[in-house]
Amino acid sequence: MRKESELRLKMKATAIAPANIALIKYWGKKDDQLRLPLNPSVSMNLSACLTTTTVEFATGHRHDQVEMIGEEISEKEIARVKDHLNWIRKLGKSRLSAKVVTKNSFPKSSGIASSASGFAALTVAATAALGLRLPERKLSIMARIGSGSACRSIPDGFVEWKEGNTTGSSFAYSLYPPDWWDICDLLLIVSPGGKKVSSTAGMAEAWTSPFFEARLENIKDRIKKVKKALKQKNFILLGETTEEEAVNLHAVMMTQKPPLFYWNEGTMEIILAVCEWRNQGLPVYFTIDAGPNVHLITEGKNEKEVRGRIRSLKNVKDAIVNKPAKGAVLAENHLF
Ligand code: PMV
Repeated sequence: MRKESELRLKMKATAIAPANIALIKYWGKKDDQLRLPLNPSVSMNLSACLTTTTVEFATGHRHDQVEMIGEEISEKEIARVKDHLNWIRKLGKSRLSAKVVTKNSFPKSSGIASSASGFAALTVAATAALGLRLPERKLSIMARIGSGSACRSIPDGFVEWKEGNTTGSSFAYSLYPPDWWDICDLLLIVSPGGKKVSSTAGMAEAWTSPFFEARLENIKDRIKKVKKALKQKNFILLGETTEEEAVNLHAVMMTQKPPLFYWNEGTMEIILAVCEWRNQGLPVYFTIDAGPNVHLITEGKNEKEVRGRIRSLKNVKDAIVNKPAKGAVLAENHLF
């Protein structure tokens, strides 16, 4: 018979998951609790924006404990992690409490959303800790329930999240592996700290924009274009479509009630510089999520040139260089 300590050891697992940048974005849900999106989305996993999470279920833990190394974690965020653990416990038919320790590879000051990498890593670690061996699709579905965009951090490389109409049909899958195309995502930090309005709260008001219905209609064409661009490695088509999508999303955000103005002076400085650099013949495009920081998309062969030009921007405080990355994986080394 195995000793108790051995049994405990079996109930601990660690996972590493990347954040992802949406080329076609998710904004608006048709089911709030299950986080079923109103449109499909397409993304690329980010190699330098990783979350590592260790989860241990044990009889010794009297209640769930959640800790983030080097960062403050709010009561609201802790409650969301506990809710997610409840979904996983239900699946694993367990009543054990958990200790969760997590850390991000990217600086807190980057202000980038860590919910995608965070909930992907939590899902993979917690299910493995409970001994559940779930296929990738099921992991993606479970991660989606924690945070919509987290479902895209489970599969490798370039990913599509199928919208679906039921929980079982709304999941992400890999379109292409990370080495399919040498794309570079330069994340430019113009404003440290978290965003003022969370994406969950922001997208709940999407319907109040007079442009939202039009967005849902013309996004179908952009999805086709981005998938075609990825398939053919057509960088101009990828860049133009990605940028058009980001501006379209922010036009919706700015015309919601209440309006969401995520851009600041630094955001505008980068947008205008990118347009200028392109006029000068440098193929580089931008995309922006629910915050002021800007992702520049370029091909690997132009990375050095773009990095050089960034130095002239007065509002850029930091730059994180990302390549396409694999999705969430289990890791050997635990955080505690
Ligand atoms: O998954 P959430 O709730 O963090 O929402 C993500 C929303 C955007 O980043 C703006 C778009 C996207 O698809 O990642």
